[in-house]
Amino acid sequence: MDTSPLIRTLNDIAERAGTPCYVYDRTRIEANYGRIARAFGPDGGPQPDICYAVKANSNLEILRVLRALGAAFDVVSAGEMFAALRAGADPERIVFAGVGKRDDELIAALDARVGWVNVESAQELRVLSDLAVARGRVARVALRINPSVDPHTHAHLATGAHGSKFGIDAGEAVQLAAQHGAYPGARIEGLHVHIGSMVSEPGPYYEALDVMLDLVARCRAAGAPIANLDMGGGFGIAYHAGQTAAPVEAIGREIAARSRAAGLHLHIEPGRAVIADAGVLITRVLYTKTNGETDYVIVDAAMNDLIRPALYGAVHRVTALNPRPGAPLRRVSVAGPVCESGDFLARDVELPAVERGDVLVIHDTGAYGMSMASNYNLRPRAAEVLIEGSAWRLIRARERLEDVLEMRAA
Ligand code: LLP
Repeated sequence: MDTSPLIRTLNDIAERAGTPCYVYDRTRIEANYGRIARAFGPDGGPQPDICYAVKANSNLEILRVLRALGAAFDVVSAGEMFAALRAGADPERIVFAGVGKRDDELIAALDARVGWVNVESAQELRVLSDLAVARGRVARVALRINPSVDPHTHAHLATGAHGSKFGIDAGEAVQLAAQHGAYPGARIEGLHVHIGSMVSEPGPYYEALDVMLDLVARCRAAGAPIANLDMGGGFGIAYHAGQTAAPVEAIGREIAARSRAAGLHLHIEPGRAVIADAGVLITRVLYTKTNGETDYVIVDAAMNDLIRPALYGAVHRVTALNPRPGAPLRRVSVAGPVCESGDFLARDVELPAVERGDVLVIHDTGAYGMSMASNYNLRPRAAEVLIEGSAWRLIRARERLEDVLEMRAA
C-alpha cells in the first residue's frame, strides 16, 4: 500500500466523490500565483494587477482562492463577470475582454462598474460609448491591439498574428486615440495585448512589448491619456518532457521594468500558469482490450470532460494511481466512452499494466479542463474537489442528469 499522503487522498476522493473528478491543490495555486506576482511585481516596486483569466477555470471556489490571494480578474462574458463578482471580486479590478461583447453584456459591465473594458473594434467603442452616455457614465477603456507578432505556439492558440480576428491594428488604434473626443462615454486610458497561449519563448513577449510601448507613445501624442498597459497572459507550461515552461521571472522583470520606465501601470492576465499544474483529472478504467495492434484502456472520462487532446492534439501525462508492484510497462491508448474516434485522453503512452477498476491520473488539467467540458453524448459533467492541506472538499457536485435535462419555459 502506498503511504504517500497525496495518493491516499486521491484514492479517498475517487472512492467518495467518484470518477471522473477534477482535483485541485490549493497550495500549488498559491505557489503559482506567488511566483507570478513576484516576477511582475518586484519587492518594493509597483505592484501590477494580476488579472486571473477566469476562462482557464471558473469554479467559484477557485475564484475565491484567487480573490483571497489578491488577484484581479480577466473575464470574457457576462457569465464570467457574474462569477467573479459572486466570488467577491472588486468590480474596479475586473477587466472585461472579448471580441464579440453583446449590448446586454456591455450594459451589465457598466452597471457593475467594472474597472476596464478592453475594446476590440471601432464599432464596439462606439456602441460602448453610446450605452455609457445613455446611462450618464464614462467607461474606462483599453484598446486591444493586434501586434502582428508570431507567438510560436499551436495555431489554435495564437491570437496576435496579423489578420487574426482579435484586436485592432496599430494604425487604427492611433486614429481612435486621436478621435477620443468623439467618444464621450469612453475614456481611452489603456492599451491591451494578448499574443496567444502556451507561449514558451520570451522573444514574442519582448516583440509585443516593443510594439506596445511605441504605440503608447503614439497614442499619447495623439491626445489619449494612456496610463495602463495590459500585456495579457499566455505563459506556457511544460505538459511533457518535450516542452519548456515560459521563463516567467525573466519575462516579468523585463515587462515590469520597461512599463514602469514608461510611466505605465501594468496588468497581466495569466490563466494556465496559475492553475494548470494545480489540477488533475482522475478517471477509472472501465475496460481493457486489444484492437489490431493497439492496446486500449477505456476509461470513464472522455473528450466531453477534457477536450484538449482531441482538439489540439495536446499531450497530458497519464499515470496509474496505484501501480501494481512488478506490473510490466505497456504501450496503450487511453480512450473515453464518447462515440468519436478522436475521443482520446492519451495516445500511445507507457503505463504499467492496468485492470478494470484501476484509477488513472491525467496530469496538469487544472486549466481548460472543466471550463471547456460539455454535455456531449448527454454526459453529465464531472465533480470538482479542492485539496487544502490534508483535507479535501467538494467544490462542485457532479452534475446529475436532472440538471442537464432541466427544461425551462422560454
Ligand atoms: N487573456 C486573453 C485575452 C486570452 O484570450 C487568454 C486566453 C488569456 C488571457 C489567458 O491565457 P493563458 O495564460 O491561460 O494562456 N483552450 C486553450 C487555451 C485558449 C486560451 C484562450 N485565451 C487550451 O486548452 O490550451
